Amino acid sequence: MADKIVVSGVKKHFRSGKQSLPVVGGVSLSVADGEFVAIVGPSGCGKSTLMKIVSGFERADEGQVLIDGVPLLRPSPKGIVISQHGSVFPWLTVQENLMFGLNGDGHGDKAALADHYAAMVGLKGFENSYPRELSGGMLKRVEIARALVVKPEILYMDEPFSALDALMNLRMRTELLRILQEERHTVLLITHDVEEALYLADRIIVLSPRPTVIQASFAVPQSHPRKLSSPELQTLKDAILAELGL
Ligand SMILES: Nc1ncnc2c1ncn2[C@@H]1O[C@H](COP(=O)(O)OP(=O)(O)O)[C@@H](O)[C@H]1O
Ligand SMILES: [Mg+2]
Repeated sequence: MADKIVVSGVKKHFRSGKQSLPVVGGVSLSVADGEFVAIVGPSGCGKSTLMKIVSGFERADEGQVLIDGVPLLRPSPKGIVISQHGSVFPWLTVQENLMFGLNGDGHGDKAALADHYAAMVGLKGFENSYPRELSGGMLKRVEIARALVVKPEILYMDEPFSALDALMNLRMRTELLRILQEERHTVLLITHDVEEALYLADRIIVLSPRPTVIQASFAVPQSHPRKLSSPELQTLKDAILAELGL
């Protein structure tokens, strides 16, 4: 498979007063077209910073990011970011939120397309509801639907489910897998949850503490749906936790 994302030699530091804070210490990685890669690492190691660089919202000091072989200089229309902070517009209904990104022609019947994606994430019947009428889990699904409706080639997710309770978190994982089976995207997921990574990803990259570098990489050679209690995944989980010093 062709490489969708190629990150080479990316370094980043922040400056506060006279202090220089090295955050990304030199990261190189590739994500194949259609691959699901999860990145785990200790809190504050630079995961979000790396994600911002790979999605074009932050510039690296050194190194570069290629999307389909082209240097990334700003956020690419090929990618959509789903972050832990919700970005659903409270003054628009579910349907209007989903239609919001569909500017320009060429989408056909926008309302019908919005409703299709609302149904896909289990929100059929809530198309005309306002965000305040929905639960946290439903809001998260609106956000996922809103990202998917524009048919992004790359889905960047930075701890997308961390604000949800444990049960809803589990539901969303299953939901996401089901959606990805219908429509394959290249996915880069940042998470601090090793089980979430094991459940979802084709490959798991473990980052070191700040300034972060890639410390280890594990393939997850198991088809979906996965059983986290299987001996293979338990062994893999132990290996990843060991890398994280736990
Ligand atoms: N815009 C910024 N300016 C200064 N420091 C920052 C900025 N963004 C992140 N940092 C610092 O970089 C480090 C890594 O942050 P972040 O990438 O958010 O980590 P993670 O997502 O792994 O928890 C932290 O120490 C954070 O305070
Ligand atoms: Mg973060």
